[in-house]
Amino acid sequence: MRPVQKSLCALLVAAASLALLYLHVWAPKPYSSVDLRPRPPARLPDGRLGQPARQYPHIAFRLKEQVMERLPRNACSCEAEPGMTLPFPKQLFGQVHSVDFAGAFDPDELPLIHRQREQEYQRQQLRVQSPADRLLVVRANSPLEYPAQGVEVRPLQSVLVPGLSLQATGRKSYQVNLTATMGTLDVAAVVDGVVLQGEGEPQLSLAAARLDHLNRQLQFVTYTNTLFHPNTADIVQFSTDGHEASFTIRIRHPPTPRLYSPGPPGDGDAEYNISALVTIATKTFLRYDKLRGLIASVRRFYPSVTIVVADDSQRPEPLQGPHLEHYLMPFGKGWFAGRNLAISQVTTKYVLWVDDDFIFTPRTRLEKLVDVLERTSLDLVGGAVREITGYTTTYRQRLSVRAGGAGGDCLRTRPGFHHRLAGFPGCVVTDGVVNFFLARTDKVRQVGFDPRLRRVAHLEFFIDGLGVLHVGSCEDVVVDHASKLKLPWRKTESEKQYAKYRYPAARDDSLSLKHGLFYFKNRFKCMTGN
Ligand SMILES: *[C@@H]1O[C@H](CO)[C@@H](O)[C@H](O)[C@H]1NC(C)=O
Ligand SMILES: *[C@@H]1O[C@H](CO)[C@@H](O)[C@H](O)[C@H]1NC(C)=O
Repeated sequence: MRPVQKSLCALLVAAASLALLYLHVWAPKPYSSVDLRPRPPARLPDGRLGQPARQYPHIAFRLKEQVMERLPRNACSCEAEPGMTLPFPKQLFGQVHSVDFAGAFDPDELPLIHRQREQEYQRQQLRVQSPADRLLVVRANSPLEYPAQGVEVRPLQSVLVPGLSLQATGRKSYQVNLTATMGTLDVAAVVDGVVLQGEGEPQLSLAAARLDHLNRQLQFVTYTNTLFHPNTADIVQFSTDGHEASFTIRIRHPPTPRLYSPGPPGDGDAEYNISALVTIATKTFLRYDKLRGLIASVRRFYPSVTIVVADDSQRPEPLQGPHLEHYLMPFGKGWFAGRNLAISQVTTKYVLWVDDDFIFTPRTRLEKLVDVLERTSLDLVGGAVREITGYTTTYRQRLSVRAGGAGGDCLRTRPGFHHRLAGFPGCVVTDGVVNFFLARTDKVRQVGFDPRLRRVAHLEFFIDGLGVLHVGSCEDVVVDHASKLKLPWRKTESEKQYAKYRYPAARDDSLSLKHGLFYFKNRFKCMTGN
């Protein structure tokens, strides 16, 4: 061949291989489709899971009422509980009250609302369930060894499945099968004397004449997720002659961390740089004199901490100063909408919630609250509010929910706390606290403040946060409450207007709005409290 022809030939070969490479790497791949419509959990092969327990009808038993009462039942009620008919319960525990939320609706429209609520509830349940939450019962006497929990893989990635083996003796040959439903199985290494079938497929079969060969091979089994889902689980079946087991492989993106810098290391001996860690958030409506008092008091102790003010007054007054952000909202958007806006603008690790009529004093030591959140798993910690009368309140509330079947669940609120917090005298663990609290910013955003709650609302946030927020309360960090007690004829015009919005008359629709939200949004039937 002449040199020209030779190089032309080489060029052609190169071009062809490039084209092949392109086809291999970039050409559109045939995407399999995935059905994400909500549906009941798939039945597993041969329906072995979730079988009823074995029955022993000939054996008698006696129920223990005291224990039975504590187990979840299909219906709950909000009648005052027997334990509460103590002498002087009112004086000791306050008046026990019970509210039925269905009363928030017209009796004619209630059936429709109830039906819609149940439909939304069923859909929500289908959306949030994961196979990792399902009941798996391990059958007796299995020679199969497998990981009961703790195997996790990121979507579309692979993982070595640890802990698989067969502990059987005296057979002529040994065989096990593995079956997955949302991915494929393979082996990372091949062991002599083992016959493999279905490598890279949902079902993998391993057979060997010698048990140690099979078990060595089982140490190399891998799982690859092929159906994308950001947070679910695959239930893998593991079987040998006459025995079957199931275990879950959790498929998920571990939550992406959201980390905050603690700020430049302080000079002095201060452990925390409060300005770098905390933003103070408040919502105001008409009460500029109170708000200015709050800001001035904060500046005495924390001159450079950022203050975020959400304001839905009709005629907003200008607020100026360093490290102060004033956000104006449409008139009367309301209390929770303002809280939402304020926390949406926070860029620090923690947010301190204060009311616009609070006053910082030397006892308002934010360092102490920061210390609690830095050194415990709590997400939110409340302080105490000192009224002008000298009376101090932490407003600690315990919340509990009893399952109530299709009618809805029952909510119970009680003052008090669950435990003392070890290492922090004066601090306890509870579910709800006063309007003065420090919280992890991302956790508060996760719960959010329902903007439909426009006026009197507070505990609603903690009810929405049940299961998300880990709450504490410390009585030795105190903020002062500017006077609430004022004779009506001494009130200024704006105070009168404020009172009109803040304290609606008893028959105002905001109470029925709240009850409606408890009924539909939280799926509660009723509430008792004291
Ligand atoms: C494993 O799967 C193969 C193919 O489906 C089947 O023939 C065999 O009986 C299975 N063995 C066990 C132990 O389940
Ligand atoms: C604290 O952090 C702020 C903001 O990040 C910074 O401006 C300030 O200098 C820090 N203070 C100290 C004492 O390091």
